[in-house]
Amino acid sequence: MGLLQDRRVLLAVSGGIAAYKSADLVRRLREAGAAVRVVMSAHAQQFITPMTLQALSGARVRSDIFDAEAEQGMGHIELARWAELVLVAPATAATLARLAHGHADDLISTLWLAAPGRKALAPAMNQQMWRAPATQRNVEQLRADGVLFFGPEEGEQACGDVGPGRLREPQALLLDLARALAPQDLRGVRVLLTAGPTQEAIDPVRYISNHSSGKMGYALAQAFADRGATVTLVSGPVALAAPVGVEVQRVQSAAQMLEAVQAGVAGQDIFVACAAVADYRPVSVAPRKLKKTENPGALMHLQLEPSTDILATVAARRPRPWVVGFAAETHDIEAYAQAKMQAKGLDMIACNDVSRSDIGFSADDNALLVLWPGGRRELATASKAHIAQGLVDTIIDVWRSKV
Ligand code: C5P
Repeated sequence: MGLLQDRRVLLAVSGGIAAYKSADLVRRLREAGAAVRVVMSAHAQQFITPMTLQALSGARVRSDIFDAEAEQGMGHIELARWAELVLVAPATAATLARLAHGHADDLISTLWLAAPGRKALAPAMNQQMWRAPATQRNVEQLRADGVLFFGPEEGEQACGDVGPGRLREPQALLLDLARALAPQDLRGVRVLLTAGPTQEAIDPVRYISNHSSGKMGYALAQAFADRGATVTLVSGPVALAAPVGVEVQRVQSAAQMLEAVQAGVAGQDIFVACAAVADYRPVSVAPRKLKKTENPGALMHLQLEPSTDILATVAARRPRPWVVGFAAETHDIEAYAQAKMQAKGLDMIACNDVSRSDIGFSADDNALLVLWPGGRRELATASKAHIAQGLVDTIIDVWRSKV
């Protein structure tokens, strides 16, 4: 199952230099399992040929509203009804203006008016054109009409300018689409997660930590939020942007993570401990930088004490949320995970095989074995966003059957 398995996406390509990126977008949409139909404006064909997008989408590309042959196959009204979501990418300033004002004088603007599904725009234009009051008025109008905006991004532009107006990257657009098409079946469900590593200070400049990137926890928080859940994420230090629609509380140490979790856990329905919490921390933090010149050549002894197990602490509370833990193992994965689930009193455990370098820690992909009393599910190797969707499905299925 792909991230957008069997979702019906109508991609409308309008005429800007970023149109070349639509080939990559179509390829990724297909890889994610979506059914894709492509329409192009006449100007878009100056930048990329219909043949390219036809080969990649596996369906005839249309650009003319008066195309008798195409109308015989799937009429334009039928095509508009077919689409669960219409995405215009790239959307030029001219296209934004025409869509904001409801013109129906070419294929894209006609389909836009006739489409009953969700609508999204990924703008791409010169930064001055994006900032122009007329464009911003059109954007405001379209937003008020319920249209989703994916981007634009800031950065260097094809014309040499720097500023807002770059087309969002296809990979990011894919996640935007998955979010826009997700069912809102978790409204009212409250979820608390931990993610990332913790840093345990040795002195003011040094710390003990681990390789956790936080990617899995962030993807999981995003997948819950995409379905309408109210999500709080307690995050150790990571280099990731906050998931959209998620309240992120940033902490550094295991002790701070425990404190934030204890302050936020009351009233939560589900708690998911994704963080790679340091098991040990220095007994005391040196107030000043430790100098190697003070004892040249001598052994350095660090005294460590165990940190509190946040997951077990939450699992021992009464009342308590439904509790999901993670296990990273290199061997005998299932046996260790079962034992950990029992020892910590968990409702579910998701296990990573960290002996594999293609998945886990800093990788973009993951695979999980999910266990709960009386059940198991394997989530085969896929992107962390996709695995997160599968894990949310699993958590919700089992949680709903138990509470
Ligand atoms: O015992 P182990 O560290 O293998 O357990 C991993 C699970 O426990 C993960 O879900 C992790 O987030 C959680 N954990 C925790 N607090 C700790 C150590 C682990 O919440 N101090």
